[in-house]
Amino acid sequence: MADLNYVRVEWDAEIALVTVDRQDKLNALNAEVVGEIGEVFESLQDDDKVRGVILTGAGSKAFVAGADIGELATMNSVSGVRVSRDGQRVFRLIEHFPKPVLAAVGGYALGGGCELAIACHMRIASEKARFGLPEVGLGIIPGYGGTIRLARLIGLGRAIEMTLTGEMMDAKRALDVGLVSAVVEPDALLDEAKALLRKVTKNGPVAIRMALESIYRGLDTSTAEALDFESALFGLLASTDDMKEGMDAFLEKRKPDFRGR
Ligand code: COA
Repeated sequence: MADLNYVRVEWDAEIALVTVDRQDKLNALNAEVVGEIGEVFESLQDDDKVRGVILTGAGSKAFVAGADIGELATMNSVSGVRVSRDGQRVFRLIEHFPKPVLAAVGGYALGGGCELAIACHMRIASEKARFGLPEVGLGIIPGYGGTIRLARLIGLGRAIEMTLTGEMMDAKRALDVGLVSAVVEPDALLDEAKALLRKVTKNGPVAIRMALESIYRGLDTSTAEALDFESALFGLLASTDDMKEGMDAFLEKRKPDFRGR
């Protein structure tokens, strides 16, 4: 990985903690930040020591307060498409990441920040988190997948309301509508994120990857095709060492030692 200015990667055993760190602008996403997030996920993708990723924002105020409005203000109709495409490419990389990605949201997750969180596989929030898509108030729409992913996550009616009003929701409301799966005390956010992610990383890595593939494929294809795909993956898993280990461990009343093969 080249030198990064705005994204940090730290390790806690098998978990990579990826922190967007541009605190003077509430971690807002300019082109460089988006590029660095992409670089980090590309480099972690094939790293066997990574079993899961936590994505968070530096400081106590923001996860990510959106795309950089100063930068957006200079775009025209040509560069606007590029800005949207560049962000979509990186967010899709996260969505298709072969290991679980959990967003730990400790503050503002607005606009592109909210879209970043919903591109992750799971989300937890601190009591101080605020979610919103304020783009229409700036005369634009969410351009990093928010108009597609939010409705799938919280339902059409709520997604339309959130997108068209541009209003923020607090962490409790985010929990109520299923935008996050837990709300925790601010100081406990990262520990709780790790605890939740470890409930995933203790399982068979190949099975986790294929479960994600099957779930996301199911959103994009017909039920019949998705069921065929699920069966194919199910069959494929029968050829893995992980399946043998998982079932042997159960029958031998011990914990499995998955190798991701
Ligand atoms: N783009 C660029 N800069 C941003 C930003 C963004 N999305 N969000 C925050 N900042 C900058 C502010 O301009 C300010 O910079 P400055 O100190 O150089 O003036 C700094 O971050 C701190 O933000 P500030 O607005 O002073 O903090 P606040 O506590 O008063 O308000 C927010 C916090 C999140 C409510 C407010 O910053 C905000 O509304 N941000 C924009 C959110 C948004 O519309 N995002 C979607 C963009 S598509």
